[in-house]
Amino acid sequence: MLWVLNGPNLNRLGRREPDVYGHETLADLEARCRALGQALGVEVRCEQSNAEGALIDWLHEAEDGGASGVVLNPGGLTHTSVALRDAIASIEVPVVEVHLSNVHAREPFRHVTLVGAVVRGTISGLGSAGYELALRYLAGRASA
Ligand code: DQA
Repeated sequence: MLWVLNGPNLNRLGRREPDVYGHETLADLEARCRALGQALGVEVRCEQSNAEGALIDWLHEAEDGGASGVVLNPGGLTHTSVALRDAIASIEVPVVEVHLSNVHAREPFRHVTLVGAVVRGTISGLGSAGYELALRYLAGRASA
């Protein structure tokens, strides 16, 4: 199984700063991820929470449940959360960090990602295509 985890405020996609994040809703994005999973022959579980602890619990659950990978958009927690970073460092399952926007082209506080050093890789600025690329990478890795 592959997990797609979205953090704070991503439930408001489509209505939230559409000039930055686009018009696609979280439901659209998750449906696209699940459809890609079906095409790739892998189950995709999507979760979103505004709570740091819920994301940490899902990372632990992904590891303990034997998931093949996690696509994670930590939202604003990217730039602040030592606890989320520690959770990723505590598990073996590969995590790909995804951002819809190019965080390096935005405000300086977004240039720092606390999770960047403990994830397998980062995709930033490609919109929802970033999720699809991350899923393809993780699915390919799992079947190799
Ligand atoms: C984001 C970028 C973060 O800086 C921001 O706090 C978000 C969304 C993105 O997908 O571009 O909530 O992770």
